[in-house]
Amino acid sequence: MAKVRAAIVGATGYTGAEVLRLLLGHPGAEVGLLTSREPGAPIAETYRHLAGLCELRLDPFDPDRVAERADVAFVGLPHHAAMEAVSPLYERGMRVIDLSADFRLRSVETYRRWYGEHFAPALLAQAAYGLPEIFREEVRQSRLVATPGCYPTSVILPLAPLLRDGLVAPGGIVADCKSGVSGAGRGLTQDTHYTEVEGGLRAYKVTAHRHQPEMEEVLARVTGADVRLLFTAHLVPMKRGILSTVYADALPGADLARVRASLERAYGGEPFVKVLPAGTWPDTAHVCGSNYVHLGAAFDAERGKVVLLCALDNLVKGAAGAAVQCMNLVFGLDERAGLCAAPLFP
Ligand SMILES: NC(=O)c1ccc[n+]([C@@H]2O[C@H](COP(=O)([O-])OP(=O)(O)OC[C@H]3O[C@@H](n4cnc5c(N)ncnc54)[C@H](OP(=O)(O)O)[C@@H]3O)[C@@H](O)[C@H]2O)c1
Repeated sequence: MAKVRAAIVGATGYTGAEVLRLLLGHPGAEVGLLTSREPGAPIAETYRHLAGLCELRLDPFDPDRVAERADVAFVGLPHHAAMEAVSPLYERGMRVIDLSADFRLRSVETYRRWYGEHFAPALLAQAAYGLPEIFREEVRQSRLVATPGCYPTSVILPLAPLLRDGLVAPGGIVADCKSGVSGAGRGLTQDTHYTEVEGGLRAYKVTAHRHQPEMEEVLARVTGADVRLLFTAHLVPMKRGILSTVYADALPGADLARVRASLERAYGGEPFVKVLPAGTWPDTAHVCGSNYVHLGAAFDAERGKVVLLCALDNLVKGAAGAAVQCMNLVFGLDERAGLCAAPLFP
């Protein structure tokens, strides 16, 4: 079978480079085109960890050329810039996997409120939400996949089964989440440079983070309930990783055994989501560089709370790994192809 030909739009960004890293080890895909607004140089000049592994140079973005050279385009651009690239690629009949927020929401109104104007609203209904553990069939059948935000993956995965099984209440949920600095991308800002980050820990965009409406909308779609969730993001002085701790009110009948059974029913057959043994807790160091997600659960009977924990690598399962997993589904490949390497530890 011929290999799937991939293009990466925005290859100089962290997520674009991570898609490239994963595809270099993929048995059924090859990368034929990398784009940047500053074309010309070999990608290995920007990313020296790829020395000798990829000879491609950066090309300017030209949708005709991308469509000619590739079957699938991964788009790793900031929101707004992403929709300007996705639309012409989609119009040319390509399969497109967008890593930005531009096609994750179904509601144009919610998009406008949090991100500003949407220039391709008709495409919102065409996009599958790229979380295969929950939307596998939609992803398989879609020509446009929007991979989730890294925080939303870490909150939706543990919560969805419990909400569906009626073990926790859809209101009053608190998601307390911590991310490594690569979550902010490669661009330099004062808030994310070494001397401002190292040795400290801080919250940001409190009650105003764009991933909150994404979590609520997707969880509402999955469960049919009006999900209300308060989300606080924190910046941790480490390169990669997200640890989310989610607190939810237990509904009558819930206990630890039922909570664990719900997670195990949902993810027991999943290749990338692992429910850890009772009493052990996820650690970002144990999923680093991999597409694996670790889940843990606790039950506080006196306070009537369920506590859920989730660790993942923001650049892999939180972005590029999810994108490759979706590509595998869209092209009928083994969903695990190129993604089974064990995490990097220590
Ligand atoms: N970082 C994460 O953990 C993560 C996780 C999930 C989703 N995402 C999403 O994935 C997308 C890419 O994130 P990233 O972390 O890879 O960002 P990044 O490291 O900042 O890279 C984005 C790339 O897009 C290009 N670019 C920037 N501004 C542009 C513009 N106005 N028009 C066209 N191209 C532009 C740049 O390439 P050139 O300068 O070479 O053109 C840049 O290298 C974002 O939408 C982000 O929200 C990121």
